[in-house]
Amino acid sequence: MAILISCLCLPNMWGHSRGTELLADFQIYYQNLRGIHWNIKGKRFFDLHVKFEELYTDANIKVDEIAERILTLGATPLHTFDDYIKTGKVKVGKNISQDEKAVELIVESLTELLKIERQILDKSDETGDEGTNSMMSDFITEQEKTVWMMKAWLGETV
Ligand SMILES: [Fe+2]
Repeated sequence: MAILISCLCLPNMWGHSRGTELLADFQIYYQNLRGIHWNIKGKRFFDLHVKFEELYTDANIKVDEIAERILTLGATPLHTFDDYIKTGKVKVGKNISQDEKAVELIVESLTELLKIERQILDKSDETGDEGTNSMMSDFITEQEKTVWMMKAWLGETV
């Protein structure tokens, strides 16, 4: 009698390299958002305080989705601050309280995230990893829209 071995047989390349970096970058982005949510000052405080909370709540959900995708692909997600700082490329924003600087930090962080997400999109396409591919596609669409809105707020063109 044949023994059937069930296996997800998912490509694990993403989980071991780029996924780990994306998780680190997202955690830095998340903490950047918490920082500006707390420290923002000025006449636009109430609007921005709420907007930054909306963004960090969304980032928090995505962090969990990324970590669990890494686990689904058989790898282990990073979970410590020192690993995030060593691995991530998103710039850490410290003590930012001025509204334009805060919004610029969001644009810079998202631009870095979009770079790695596009790399993961291509790689997951090559390896037939549809789950990761559709996740990246959704993230990219949402973040491109957020970048457009943040740049519109800054008075810049995309
Ligand atoms: Fe709060």
